[in-house]
Amino acid sequence: MNADKRPYLGFGLGLRAEHYEALLATRPKVDWLEAISENYMVEGGKPLHYLDRFRRDYPMVLHGVSLSIGGSDPLDAAYLERLSALIDRIEPLWISDHLCWTGHRGINMHDLLPLPQTEEAVAHVAERVARVQDRLKRQLLIENVSSYVSYTHSTMPEWEFLSAVAERADCLVLLDVNNIFVSAYNHEFDPRRYLEGVDPRRVRQFHLAGHQNNGSHIVDTHDHPIVDGVWQLFADAWQRFGPVSTMIERDAEIPPLADLVAELDEARRIAAAVAEPALP
Ligand SMILES: [Fe+2]
Repeated sequence: MNADKRPYLGFGLGLRAEHYEALLATRPKVDWLEAISENYMVEGGKPLHYLDRFRRDYPMVLHGVSLSIGGSDPLDAAYLERLSALIDRIEPLWISDHLCWTGHRGINMHDLLPLPQTEEAVAHVAERVARVQDRLKRQLLIENVSSYVSYTHSTMPEWEFLSAVAERADCLVLLDVNNIFVSAYNHEFDPRRYLEGVDPRRVRQFHLAGHQNNGSHIVDTHDHPIVDGVWQLFADAWQRFGPVSTMIERDAEIPPLADLVAELDEARRIAAAVAEPALP
């Protein structure tokens, strides 16, 4: 693993088309941007024009949603080809995708589905991550997903599974604090145990998001402001991991840019109030 200090970008936002013009016009206090890879894996057009423009002004990372790194279909060579071309164009500081599977036998389920947490799955996913990293010539960040079901034959908790894949593949981790909160609620585990179970040297990015609490379970809708419990868990995460590049992911019911910038200021305030441990 690279022993250098973790790069730290500050507080960013997920780049959304609804905010292109407001970002250009108002230049709010946003330190960096995360772009959804699949939205820009095209030959040309307006989104790519905006992406190039924002890349000149902001540190940028790419975040994928359809690598299906945990799937059993062969890795999609055409997808990796297009992703590689986008990487060459944008030169992101890093790239990420989810620790999940998204389809089977060529059928895309359009969902981020959880994996069985077994040694067999660790070996399967780690081997695929290693191949993707070889293909893209860079480390990949893998992100924990929210889940609503679990597998009876899982043999380890999710944080052990995530950590084992990261160790075996020598990849990095994107911790989604909201997803930990959602899964902890749905599966009744202590979210702080999750944080304690992940090696700080592997963690390079945090996601924050909102969700919908239906009482018996939480649905990870990414269409609400961040709730108090997630803010508290974010403070705990900052305490454990130190400064980690943090961004807010809003995927539906997109509010005015100023609302998200205000939420980002709240993240800054919380982080500043936490006593910082030394960087790994
Ligand atoms: Fe996320």
